[in-house]
Amino acid sequence: MERHYSPFDPHAFPAHVRDYLIPEYAGDCVYECIACAYSCPLDRFLYTCPACGSLLKITDRSFDELKKIPGPVWRDIFDYRTLLRIEALQGIFLFKELLFPAIPLQDVIYLGEGHTALVRANTQLARYAGSEFFIKNDGFNPSASFKDRGMASAVSFINYSIRTRGLSEVLGICASTGDTSAAAALYLSYLDSSIVKSVVLLPKGKVTPQQLAQPLGSGAVVLEIPGVFDDCMRIVEQLAETYHVCLLNSKNPVRIMGQKSYAYEVARQLGYKTDDLTVVVPVGNAGNITAIMEGFLDMHRLGIIEDLPHILAVQSRHANPVALWRSSGEYAPVPVRPSVAQAAMIGDPVSFPKVRALVASDFDDRFACIDVEEQEIIEGMLQANRCGSVVCTQGGESIAGLRRALASGIVSPERTFVVDSTSHQLKFSNFQQMFFENTFPPEYEITPRSGFVNAPVQLAASAGAVADYLGLKKK
Ligand code: F0G
Repeated sequence: MERHYSPFDPHAFPAHVRDYLIPEYAGDCVYECIACAYSCPLDRFLYTCPACGSLLKITDRSFDELKKIPGPVWRDIFDYRTLLRIEALQGIFLFKELLFPAIPLQDVIYLGEGHTALVRANTQLARYAGSEFFIKNDGFNPSASFKDRGMASAVSFINYSIRTRGLSEVLGICASTGDTSAAAALYLSYLDSSIVKSVVLLPKGKVTPQQLAQPLGSGAVVLEIPGVFDDCMRIVEQLAETYHVCLLNSKNPVRIMGQKSYAYEVARQLGYKTDDLTVVVPVGNAGNITAIMEGFLDMHRLGIIEDLPHILAVQSRHANPVALWRSSGEYAPVPVRPSVAQAAMIGDPVSFPKVRALVASDFDDRFACIDVEEQEIIEGMLQANRCGSVVCTQGGESIAGLRRALASGIVSPERTFVVDSTSHQLKFSNFQQMFFENTFPPEYEITPRSGFVNAPVQLAASAGAVADYLGLKKK
């Protein structure tokens, strides 16, 4: 008898993974305060603890049940699961049991996010940084930034809430430096527009033209506010306290759930060898770094990885509250100054209390934070993009941080480095242009170096003109 090896047929898969391929585990997820004993079910949109006002996280109270499956079996489950043709499992929900088990597959919104490339820096770029390293290109997500990971979980949760709670109106709202807004507007526009509306608050003149075009194109209401991101954030925080809106910033713990997928993917892409791994992450509002540490912790608790990696956080000197905290031991918000790593230009990161708690509990001797000059950031980006990459200014910031950490001996070149390029080069091409045309206002403290500058050349429309210009030799 001929055996049917269709990918839809669980019997085509090894017995030890067969029963787990289609995730049935729903966990017992609740909101939990990070500071007091408050917890409550996920039957509402909630962002801060009603008892003490601190940040919330989502905890799966039956997480330990997942330990019944050995770590190596989990690895096989994720690998074999990629062979299934189930839409909901194609993206970040490949890791559903760890990621956010409360969301049934039928409610998962998948727009192509996750599973971004891990690209080895070429020889020239490795030499520039001072060590071999990989770039994980989160600019390859649908709205061209890592925010799509968190938005896939948050908007899947909204979709689930609409179905199970019969909601007839949802107003999704966020403050943004440009990428959260692009992702929120994109993902919300996928839902039923008679129920779901989307509003974004942007600091006027402090998002790039490309980032501004994104929520406009997705049909969101775009509100421009004078000031910086922190000012917009305070407004949406107040709105979320007082009105029926669904906050889509990473203060919403549902966002963090999806962003953990970055850690799961890095581990999987490295064959789960994390003993010598350092992940280099640019920090703004500190949601991403929180999620990355939580994701690695999930895997460590389940024995999927044997060692927690080190984390190297990177900030611009123009917006460096976390770096100052790490060096002084004291946390204080800072006023921000103009930065080419504009998406991370945040003086009072909302998720800082989570970072502090994670560092204290599990990452103390594994967490460093370094700050870098604007000149280093832009040159990190330009250098990478001359070596086959498509990194954004925040990716340039990560590369600059790695380079400085290696040069100052904070990290050893023997380690395996994964650098997070959080969005796509094209979102920040205006800064490249300012460098090429020498038009940076003095506050940026950037002086163009001729080695990187490039400009189009105007020629007559003839082969002769091109050949003359290039100095081609006749055959
Ligand atoms: N890189 C990019 C491209 C970003 O858009 C952001 C944050 C960060 C890094 C920093 O990540 O905030 O999780 O520490 N952008 C937010 C936004 C604030 O509104 O788009 P974080």
